[in-house]
Amino acid sequence: MSDLDSSILSAFLEAGKSPVSGDRLAKELGVSRVTIWTRLERLRTQGFIFEASTRKGYTLTSVPEALNEALVLAHLRTLKVTAEVEFMAVVDSTNSEAERRIALGRQAPFFVLAQKQTAGRGRLGRKWHSEHPGNLYLSLALRPFIPPDRLKPFTLWMGLALCAHLDEVHGVRLGLKWPNDLQTADGRKLAGMLTEARLDADTVRDLVFGLGLNVTAQTKDFPAELREVATSLAMSSKRDFEINLVAAQIVAALERAWDDFSNDRWNENFKNYWKRYDNLTGKTVTIQLRGKPVSGVVQGVDDDGSLILNDTAGQRMLISSGEVTLPKV
Ligand code: BTN
Repeated sequence: MSDLDSSILSAFLEAGKSPVSGDRLAKELGVSRVTIWTRLERLRTQGFIFEASTRKGYTLTSVPEALNEALVLAHLRTLKVTAEVEFMAVVDSTNSEAERRIALGRQAPFFVLAQKQTAGRGRLGRKWHSEHPGNLYLSLALRPFIPPDRLKPFTLWMGLALCAHLDEVHGVRLGLKWPNDLQTADGRKLAGMLTEARLDADTVRDLVFGLGLNVTAQTKDFPAELREVATSLAMSSKRDFEINLVAAQIVAALERAWDDFSNDRWNENFKNYWKRYDNLTGKTVTIQLRGKPVSGVVQGVDDDGSLILNDTAGQRMLISSGEVTLPKV
């Protein structure tokens, strides 16, 4: 991929349904008409359809269904996002890739996006199914240099900011199941977050925020054991989503969410978002605390994002991490 491909695609995105002249494009981008023609041919092999309209030029009528580097970059340009983004066709895990790049001295922040993961990781040593190229597998790598305590509400904040983004931009209303699941109203999981940090003395030196978000997958795209519990944006809202646009918008939303967090502005929205998107308050749950189950009624979260639970003996507990299960109905 080169910048030229994404510049060409930017021109088509800007033009929308109007034809783009190859001549004009060549002049604007300072290359020959043959170069434009060759690039369009190459983009066609990736799944783009450019329809020629006599003398007026070409119209972009269809885009690839899988994550496409040039197209995400073109969308990022339209959204005026300058984040650095690395693309991989296949990787073991975008979190691992981000960690490796950080260890090699790469400047942060940057994003790693992949079409597929061969060893996608979930929380608590679980696997994250990462076969479908129309779903999003993404990591945001940061070097925050903040005290570990300040990190406590980070994942919860990122999850709430994502819920707000999907609600406002796509009209998809999700709930956040503390601490790291995004779910639909019927309790199906649409996204999961995995934050991994490396501490150095008393600062967080490296921080990788991983997000798996199901975008275009349909039931058949999930393995049998996930079909009853997983969903995607497309399945839950019965609409079509363009993975590349969704990816660029999510990158922009996460960049903003991190900016708010690192500049201490997250507090302005945290409570409102929690009220709107929390899935657990008032519910009776069981939480695995280092292998030991504790049951009680969720009261909300404190300022650090710890879950407040009134246990069965009526005692108030503050829980900073754990695996929540709801009774089956
Ligand atoms: C969970 O719900 O258990 C968290 C799932 C997190 C999955 C994402 S996919 C991108 C990133 N890379 C990984 O290996 N995991 C996270």
